[in-house]
Amino acid sequence: MPRGLPEVVPPMSSDQFRKYGYKVVDWAVEFMNTVNNRNPTSDVKPGWLWKVVPTQAPENGESFESILNDLEKVVCHGMAHWQHRLFFAYFPAGNSWPSILGDIFSNAMAANGQTWYSCPVSTELENIVMDWCCKFLGLPAFFLSTYSEPRSHGQGILQCSASEAIFYSMIWAREDAVRQLRPRFPSKKDDPVNGKTRADLLNMLVAYCNNECHCCVERAAMMGCIRIRKLKADKKGVVRSTTLLNTIEEDMAKGLIPFFHCAIIGSTGVTSYDDLMEVGPVCQKYHIWLHVDAAYAGSAFCCPELAYLKQGYEYVWSTNINTNKWMMCNFEASLHWVRYRTKALAAFAGPKWESTTYQYPNNVPPDLKHYGVASSRRLRAYKLYCVIRNYGVEGIRRYIRNHVSLARLFEAYVERDPRFELCGGSFRFGLVTFRLKGYNSLTQKLNDAINASHKIHMVPSHFHDKVVIRFALCAEYANERDVDDAWNAIDHHATEILHEAQEEFKNDRAMRDTFVQQRKHDTYFDYFPHPDHAEKLAEAQHVAKNLAKSLAEDALIKDADNTAVDGSWGNGDPDAFASYDKKLRDNPEMVRFNFDEDYLHTDDPQLYKVASMLHLAMLQSTVANSPESKKSKSRHSTDV
Ligand SMILES: Cc1ncc(COP(=O)(O)O)c(C=O)c1O
Repeated sequence: MPRGLPEVVPPMSSDQFRKYGYKVVDWAVEFMNTVNNRNPTSDVKPGWLWKVVPTQAPENGESFESILNDLEKVVCHGMAHWQHRLFFAYFPAGNSWPSILGDIFSNAMAANGQTWYSCPVSTELENIVMDWCCKFLGLPAFFLSTYSEPRSHGQGILQCSASEAIFYSMIWAREDAVRQLRPRFPSKKDDPVNGKTRADLLNMLVAYCNNECHCCVERAAMMGCIRIRKLKADKKGVVRSTTLLNTIEEDMAKGLIPFFHCAIIGSTGVTSYDDLMEVGPVCQKYHIWLHVDAAYAGSAFCCPELAYLKQGYEYVWSTNINTNKWMMCNFEASLHWVRYRTKALAAFAGPKWESTTYQYPNNVPPDLKHYGVASSRRLRAYKLYCVIRNYGVEGIRRYIRNHVSLARLFEAYVERDPRFELCGGSFRFGLVTFRLKGYNSLTQKLNDAINASHKIHMVPSHFHDKVVIRFALCAEYANERDVDDAWNAIDHHATEILHEAQEEFKNDRAMRDTFVQQRKHDTYFDYFPHPDHAEKLAEAQHVAKNLAKSLAEDALIKDADNTAVDGSWGNGDPDAFASYDKKLRDNPEMVRFNFDEDYLHTDDPQLYKVASMLHLAMLQSTVANSPESKKSKSRHSTDV
């Protein structure tokens, strides 16, 4: 037996760990406190890092000091800053101080909770946190562990991602379907001629999902060799029960067996949500496993005012919610519940599960490794436990409500600007999806322009063949100024893009309305930087926006718009413009009078002056830009 082996010297001592640990925490605090001084996205090109770090691993260890020294160059330079105030892309990447600290604890302990015995706190804490969440999110009690609800047959598990949760649910449902089918179809052994193999049964199955579902649903079906049909959602992104019913009947007529439907609450593209009261009873009637993907929006269930979104959850067999999206917990922490844990165990725990150890709770809780692919399990629940304890449920509600209110503010900006349209469902959670009216290429260009500067970030999506831009509240402490800055950037780029497009689509009738709106926008808002009363700017803006709306209905302006038949003044209808022009010239007092009487509802003389100025400027500019006016400039004065 060899003796006297040299002692292994670690590259980092515990004292050094303490030293660098403090440094790293200081760095993290400084980084987060100053993240807004950086750009939210990086301008690096693919492959840049290969030129920065060596292509071979170092043969001999380096000091941690030197690793810290090139942190900025190696990591930060190629980072997208998801916590930045102007990062409005994707969905939030949840994070918070307690979550980071919780993760440090679990990492320090580095235990593997693959069974209850291998690390009892791992299984127990996960059960407890899952039950806490189930209760404060107001989900049905049948998802609770039997510690909380003795009559429950359910189980909650913390998975790494929504994609995994959905994949597992599909496989559990598939196994359940095969078991249900077996008595109806004898095996080949029992009936060599008409009997069906397991493969035959699997081949009969068909799954469904809302076509607004995240692509991970289709991927889950591919991985499970499952036939899937994406059901057409309506204009609001909702699968109606008639669509589901008709598809089921069509498929059954072909000899297929529908077994799984993935509904959605908070779709990735437009946060649309299915009505579970509609699809639930259909699934129940046909013994279809109903899964609800609420990866992002599910966190909002903790707000009582949104309880209506959960209606119909009593029909649900499994569901998933990512706390690492909208509950300030960092990766990976996807809540996943199944209504009948035995159905999950039947699929994953292997043939022994029924007969032996898993008599939960009389014996020990079922090992959580049986609800997923990995055997090893870190103490993932601890960081979520820290977040919930530190914020309290009320703190989580405050966070969600702030995002919801800011999304409403943004929505109001879009609604007030006639160049844009809103897309998607009727409740937007913390995401607003919008587009420029007109061709998809305009919205795509707008999105590209917004991102090109790297100062603000949003991502596009598709909704019913339309390119849309997603404005997602992501920063934990997002506020009105962030929304205003985002809107100003959008407004600025939209104006530029529409001016460029006006040339490109000069003779395009379909684009006419969009250009007309842009012209109005120019006319009303060009004068904002110079009002006499700077302190009244905000009110003036408000008044002018109302003016814009009212004037859009004004017959005079409509006449003017009619001249833009081919998307440009040059090709307009000169007769219509001439009559408009004449009306203004002949009756300047009438115009002023109408304005006073009909449009300006204020007693504030200063505000009145600013708004009057805007209005007159608008009229002047409209007239001055007319082809008729240009022609007759030498004959007339342009004073109104
Ligand atoms: C609604 C929805 N479901 C599923 C997913 C996939 O989530 P994960 O990255 O956790 O797999 C996403 C991702 O954004 C999503 O928005």
